[in-house]
Amino acid sequence: MHKDIAEILVTEQEIQDICTSMGKEIAADYKDKNLIIVGLLKGCVPFLADLTRKIDLKFDIAYMSVSSYHGGIASSGDVKIKMDLDISIKGRDVLIVEDIVDTANTIVTIMELFKHRGASSVKIATLLDKPEGRIKPYEPEYVGRVIPKAFVVGYGLDYDEMYRNLPYVGILKPEVYNTK
Ligand code: IMP
Repeated sequence: MHKDIAEILVTEQEIQDICTSMGKEIAADYKDKNLIIVGLLKGCVPFLADLTRKIDLKFDIAYMSVSSYHGGIASSGDVKIKMDLDISIKGRDVLIVEDIVDTANTIVTIMELFKHRGASSVKIATLLDKPEGRIKPYEPEYVGRVIPKAFVVGYGLDYDEMYRNLPYVGILKPEVYNTK
């Protein structure tokens, strides 16, 4: 698995440092709010697990499964809800946890949906941000690391459902997807 990685962009230690500082910031910002954290499956899993343990507050966690890639390395722009929330977000302060924001198609679509469902506020915490990939203008409120426009895997991020278990974030060697 490691031999398919051209370069490590964010190390395990850097990820833990991001979780600690972002967790503190979120705890301070949501101290008096009605917080619910929504994780977007599947990519959010390692980040949500590490980040939420650094947020010293009471809140609930819900999950939603959305997809915009359908197996390749570029967003199809067509956001599909594969599994919806099992809890109402009406009147709640929603913080969506994402692995990466690229075109922002996914996040903008979900934010609009949550506002329509009556959320009091909707913000985003993302481990990675690729601002050069933006199609919809949106700046996430909490960003772990801004990265260049490259296809990355690891720590929840996949190529064709693999590499999610890499403990770091790295750039996938182009020959891995060019030879498929
Ligand atoms: P967006 O809708 O283009 O902002 O993309 C959001 C989703 O696309 C993320 O939640 C990821 O699942 C996926 N994605 C975007 N960039 C990458 C990448 O570099 N590697 C793996 N998945 C990515």
